[in-house]
Amino acid sequence: MKVLFIGGTGNISSACVQLALEKGYETSLLNRGSRSLSFEGQVNLIKGDRNDPELLKQVAESTYYDVVANFVGFTPEQIAKDIMAFSGKIGQYLFISSASVYQKPPNHFIITESTPLRNPFWKYSRDKIACEEKLVQAYREKGFPITIVRPSYTYGPTWIPCSVGGHGYTVVGRMRQGLPIISHGDGQSLWVMTFNADFAVGFVGLFGQDQAIGEAFHITSDEVLTWDQIYRTIAKAAGCQAEIIHIPSEFIAAVNPEWGASLLGDKAYSVVFDNSKIKRLVPEFRPKVKFAEGIARSIAWHDQDPSRQVIDPLVNQTMEHIIQLYKEALQKAQRTEKRYHV
Ligand SMILES: NC(=O)c1ccc[n+]([C@@H]2O[C@H](COP(=O)([O-])OP(=O)(O)OC[C@H]3O[C@@H](n4cnc5c(N)ncnc54)[C@H](OP(=O)(O)O)[C@@H]3O)[C@@H](O)[C@H]2O)c1
Repeated sequence: MKVLFIGGTGNISSACVQLALEKGYETSLLNRGSRSLSFEGQVNLIKGDRNDPELLKQVAESTYYDVVANFVGFTPEQIAKDIMAFSGKIGQYLFISSASVYQKPPNHFIITESTPLRNPFWKYSRDKIACEEKLVQAYREKGFPITIVRPSYTYGPTWIPCSVGGHGYTVVGRMRQGLPIISHGDGQSLWVMTFNADFAVGFVGLFGQDQAIGEAFHITSDEVLTWDQIYRTIAKAAGCQAEIIHIPSEFIAAVNPEWGASLLGDKAYSVVFDNSKIKRLVPEFRPKVKFAEGIARSIAWHDQDPSRQVIDPLVNQTMEHIIQLYKEALQKAQRTEKRYHV
């Protein structure tokens, strides 16, 4: 099988490339070549920008790919270029969407692939919905062989996934210095973290499957945790305690709209994924890596080399600022509360 990854050296795609190589697929990567390769096996590198329609055309005309897996699609304009270049020339086109496309707030905490798509809070998700719609239209009108895949929060050893403060080392750095970290809301909403190698089993398992054409799948772990459990698990792996401050998502959004969008458009709600659809088509997909194990690998990767332990000054300052503002608001509320008791 000949496979082309658009991307391929990223957090999720690198695990999928590794598995494709292990399965013996002839694997090509199209990216700008800015990241080092760490694959065991031979890949064919096509260096360039995925936004270049001429490059896409050349790539599509030079080789017949059974599978094109697009990890770098964020706007319908990008998708239109792919449809133009690859129509009639490939066996299957897998688009990496996002589970944040599902209805927010959710009407039910169990998410299936039939859950409606609607996200008034986060532009990233609305753009992914628009990409999906463009692809569904191309499938209906001209049989463009799409498969849509919606990852939820998916991490590998280079990521430390958090709800507030991104996926870098900053939150762990703060925990290790004894500084407070933010868990949104009351810290009790339910969440699912997926390890990239587990995701890869479901994803690569869809390659070349006729029954996946025209379909959408999410691929996640079955382990459900509260956000406070997630932060405590991270702290345990880092060998420290987490001093957790609970701050409403709306408060965070008022201070930092960008962080707020990824909460109110995604992580603020309890979601649990029904993975029966992917398991039916890819029976070998049985997520194995518990969060405690995956995050221990992430912490070990960061601890191997001090240059990886980067505390992002902007993220750090923003967290500090939100915590300070929230403490002041609490103190003010407590002073008001005393007046009611005199
Ligand atoms: N991780 C999650 O929790 C999550 C959840 C939902 C959805 N997603 C989706 O997963 C995808 C990210 O996959 P990933 O983890 O593999 O990516 P990533 O870690 O963001 O890496 C990006 C990859 O794409 C390449 N790339 C970026 N811009 C490019 C361009 N203009 N032209 C060609 N190549 C380009 C990069 O290489 P160069 O920089 O060298 O070009 C790299 O290989 C996104 O579509 C995202 O929306 C992720």
